[in-house]
Amino acid sequence: MAKIGIFYASAGGNTTQIARALQEAFEVEDEACVLMEEDFDSAQQFEDFEVLFLGSSTWGQGDVHFSWVDALLEIGSENLSFEGKTVAFFGAGDSKTHGEHFCSALGKLYEVFAKRGAKVVGFTDACAYTYVASLALKDGKFCGLAIDHINESQKSRERIENWIAQLKEEV
Ligand SMILES: Cc1cc2nc3c(=O)[nH]c(=O)nc-3n(C[C@H](O)[C@H](O)[C@H](O)COP(=O)(O)O)c2cc1C
Repeated sequence: MAKIGIFYASAGGNTTQIARALQEAFEVEDEACVLMEEDFDSAQQFEDFEVLFLGSSTWGQGDVHFSWVDALLEIGSENLSFEGKTVAFFGAGDSKTHGEHFCSALGKLYEVFAKRGAKVVGFTDACAYTYVASLALKDGKFCGLAIDHINESQKSRERIENWIAQLKEEV
């Protein structure tokens, strides 16, 4: 199987829940699981992997978690290419209180990695959620797995399991 890296950011642990499930399902070693806030040093770390699972909860007004900001800037300033890599995005949000930007961090990550040549997999049905707007919406689908552990925690486990089954087909 292709070498998989998981890069993620989570303030309260909800996005971590997805990262852990991915780690277990794809048997990813601890060294290949990068918590952005603690383990990320340089965008060169992405180079070690053919498949990237990239996660962030959404903050501010549809922003990525702060620990992603430097990485995204570095990718831009160094003009890095992700040609030949397969990526999938995931993250937690709040579709009620922040329904105008529900899980928009996925869309922000998409804009960076897809624009730079990555093949994106793991699109999901956006109709399964009630929200106002989201940058994660690409051609009628969410560009990854969104969970709303605040309002729909009972659905999170099934959503994660279904997405992992989907990724096993697509990666
Ligand atoms: C100040 C603040 C801003 C937020 N902004 C958004 C937002 O724009 N979009 C969204 O979907 N969720 C937003 N959220 C909700 C978080 O993304 C949500 O609580 C999520 O479960 C956090 O996941 P984590 O535990 O992985 O960090 C916000 C929460 C706070 C406290």
